Amino acid sequence: MIQIAPSILAADFLHLEKDVEIVNRYADLFHLDIMDGSFVPNISFGFPVVEAIARKACKPLDVHLMIVNPEKYVERFAQAGARMISFHYEAAREGSSALIEKIQGMGVKAGIVINPDCPVQDIFPFLHQVDFVLLMSVFAGFGGQKFIPASLDRIRTVRAELDRMGRSEIPIEVDGGIGPQNAGEVVGAGAEILVAGSAVFKADDPGAVIARMRA
Ligand code: DX5
Ligand code: ZN
Repeated sequence: MIQIAPSILAADFLHLEKDVEIVNRYADLFHLDIMDGSFVPNISFGFPVVEAIARKACKPLDVHLMIVNPEKYVERFAQAGARMISFHYEAAREGSSALIEKIQGMGVKAGIVINPDCPVQDIFPFLHQVDFVLLMSVFAGFGGQKFIPASLDRIRTVRAELDRMGRSEIPIEVDGGIGPQNAGEVVGAGAEILVAGSAVFKADDPGAVIARMRA
């Protein structure tokens, strides 16, 4: 089943409730981008915003951590209402295995993320553990970037490896530059969860955009 995860980074923060209702009504997950100005050269939002969204959300919260030392904060994000938490392999490295266990130990789904310049093979050692994989199709840090076409091959490679391991049920989430124009090829390559920020929230009719992506 294809899931659409609008990225709140592109929402209207003065009228956040309006955009939360759009996700509740038309989409499947809330994608929440947490940036610390250190792992990525941008700062987004933190616990108060996640907690506020959690109070109004009827769909699960998918927290994408773009922060250094993710192990220090996963507990707080779980308490804030996250049902899925992903961290960058580049930020955790050999600590990835323990971090996946820590996230899962709190009853939260654990995902591992990599940027477009990180070989997908680097995360193969953790594929037997994760609940989902998040492949960046732009460099983490900013919304509104252009989809990198080489991401399609990376999706295919990870999909093939998951299938080979007998873990076909593990979804691949893809994040960055996705909209109705390329949702079909991203799904065709083997992804199930599509993150979309600008395409959804900068549109006149976000519900129609989500419907087109699903189709
Ligand atoms: C980038 C974020 C994405 C981003 C997606 O670092 O992880 O979730 O907000 O935004 P669009 O869909 O505008 O590329
Ligand atoms: Zn994201």
